[in-house]
Amino acid sequence: MDDTDAPNPSGPRRTFVRAAVALGGAGAVASIAWPVGRYLQPVGDGVPEDLPPTDVCADSELAPGQMRSVRVGPIPVIVLRRHDSSLVAWSALCTHLGCTVRFRPESDDLHCACHGAVFDAATGTRRSGPAPSALAKLKIEVRHGRIVAWA
Ligand code: FES
Repeated sequence: MDDTDAPNPSGPRRTFVRAAVALGGAGAVASIAWPVGRYLQPVGDGVPEDLPPTDVCADSELAPGQMRSVRVGPIPVIVLRRHDSSLVAWSALCTHLGCTVRFRPESDDLHCACHGAVFDAATGTRRSGPAPSALAKLKIEVRHGRIVAWA
């Protein structure tokens, strides 16, 4: 028997199997790395500049401790009447991955249910959780008896 009858260890079938295994491995790594990278890369506040003034409600309709949810352009916004009667307007977009935060009057904070970020309702700063920065603050004032918010 001579050496030319032995099977070729680097034939086309073996090359195809190696390529398929390598491709499958790369796909498996990507399927894990992409969501991990997405979790670790914050979206920021996501609020464009120059959003038009948007009517929230009549000034008399928002008592101390109450809130309103509105959209200013494409941005969900939470308008709060603080207990000292001042007004604040926060983007409701969590700065972690952009889920919508909710006001919790019992703890006077804004909570993101996606990964548990908590923001201070008075200042918008992050109290806990994975969000890297404060909520974006919108401008707000009372015009002719109506509360108006804009960016
Ligand atoms: S999106 Fe992750 S904590 Fe809000």
